[in-house]
Amino acid sequence: MRPVKNWTTTTVVDLAMVLYGILGVDEKSQTVTSHIWSTMYWTNEFLTWNCSNFCGINELSIPRSKLWIPDITIEQDASDSGSILEDPWVNLNPNGSMFTFSRQKLTFTCRFNLYKFPFDVQRCNITFVSMSADVNTLVFRSVKDYLNLMVLSKQYMVTQGEWDLRDMEFLQGHITNGERNHSTLVYIVTLQRKPFLYVINFIIPLVYLLVLDLASFFISVDSGEKFGFKVTVLLSISVLLLILKDILPSTEVDLPIIANLCAAVFTLVWLSVLESILVSFLFNVDRCCDKQSKMCAEGKRFMKRTKGPKEANEETGHVKPEQRIFPLGQLGDVDLLKLILDEVKAARQEAGSQRKPGCCRRVAKIIDNLFFVGYLLTFVAFVTYICVEWIEF
Ligand SMILES: *[C@@H]1O[C@H](CO)[C@@H](O)[C@H](O)[C@H]1NC(C)=O
Ligand SMILES: *[C@@H]1O[C@H](CO)[C@@H](O)[C@H](O)[C@H]1NC(C)=O
Ligand SMILES: *[C@@H]1O[C@H](CO)[C@@H](O)[C@H](O)[C@H]1NC(C)=O
Ligand SMILES: *[C@@H]1O[C@H](CO)[C@@H](O)[C@H](O)[C@H]1NC(C)=O
Repeated sequence: MRPVKNWTTTTVVDLAMVLYGILGVDEKSQTVTSHIWSTMYWTNEFLTWNCSNFCGINELSIPRSKLWIPDITIEQDASDSGSILEDPWVNLNPNGSMFTFSRQKLTFTCRFNLYKFPFDVQRCNITFVSMSADVNTLVFRSVKDYLNLMVLSKQYMVTQGEWDLRDMEFLQGHITNGERNHSTLVYIVTLQRKPFLYVINFIIPLVYLLVLDLASFFISVDSGEKFGFKVTVLLSISVLLLILKDILPSTEVDLPIIANLCAAVFTLVWLSVLESILVSFLFNVDRCCDKQSKMCAEGKRFMKRTKGPKEANEETGHVKPEQRIFPLGQLGDVDLLKLILDEVKAARQEAGSQRKPGCCRRVAKIIDNLFFVGYLLTFVAFVTYICVEWIEF
């Protein structure tokens, strides 16, 4: 039974928990694996002695199984049984105060808020509660003050990996379970993620890919590279999306900003691929028209040329061979000049039709420019929004 002389006396259990390792955080299952070391102090009113009567012995160790030990569980505990290592002995002082410690690889559940991932700060509760004892018979208290626990935890922290222990507070209270109230002691652990890896590995590539996509507007459509380039950028972004899928849980409330960022970047690049398809289509339409009109022009010129010499033949009465191979010496000065003028005119016409863009081509250029401006503005606005969301804490 509970070691008190008067049964209404409340046994006060002083608890101290030191966190000395954060082994891993699983965002998918929302658990934190840690190493904790907890010490319990309480008083056994029956086990007291006077040192001077017993050769000055002022400490005793008694097997745990022979004594009453407060039953304690951790509410958020999700670890396998068998990961607790308890001190097999309980240390006893002459005034009846005793203490025991245990160390444990504790996996506790914690509801993460990943909205600001990877710049997030998580507050997790580790609640110590007695399973059977009432709040009137057993009360938990924190033995050390908050600063001490923080300092101890920081001092003993062996491994913390990706996370940084920012703060550790405790709160005494009780929970109601049916008719009974159970005393609780809640340690509120504040963990901050070290975001650097994600910044290097994820955010910077994403932004760079977006900038590349933006830059691809300056690749000329005629080179034929543009389209392939854009699709490659799209594929790279989808690889990043796959990585993200492995990290984040699929909670629908409070979708992390980074998921929005990815979706938006993906959409932007997708739109720009569509746009470049449209532009290249318009260019092709134009090129076909060009070819047709050029063919018409060639045809007309050909007609003219074949008609010209014939008329001349009829007038002058002697046969002329093909103009280009006509020996210049046999032509008069006026004829020669006319010939040169004709050639120059034809050449100019040809060059003009090539330089002047067709209607479709002009529309495509306008679409391209408008889209580029829109894209750039969206990009700037979006980056600003993301930065503001991430920075304000
Ligand atoms: C312990 O025993 C000594 C000697 O018998 C006595 O003087 C002293 O008062 C005792 N102390 C207590 C706390 O009873
Ligand atoms: C009992 O003795 C220990 C060690 O001498 C001391 O730390 C503790 O405060 C004492 N407890 C009480 C209730 O006097
Ligand atoms: C953690 O404990 C505090 C105090 O009991 C409570 O207000 C808070 O809601 C708890 N947080 C979670 C995530 O359970
Ligand atoms: C438990 O706590 C609540 C709130 O403090 C209180 O109203 C209630 O009477 C308590 N129940 C018992 C059995 O002590």
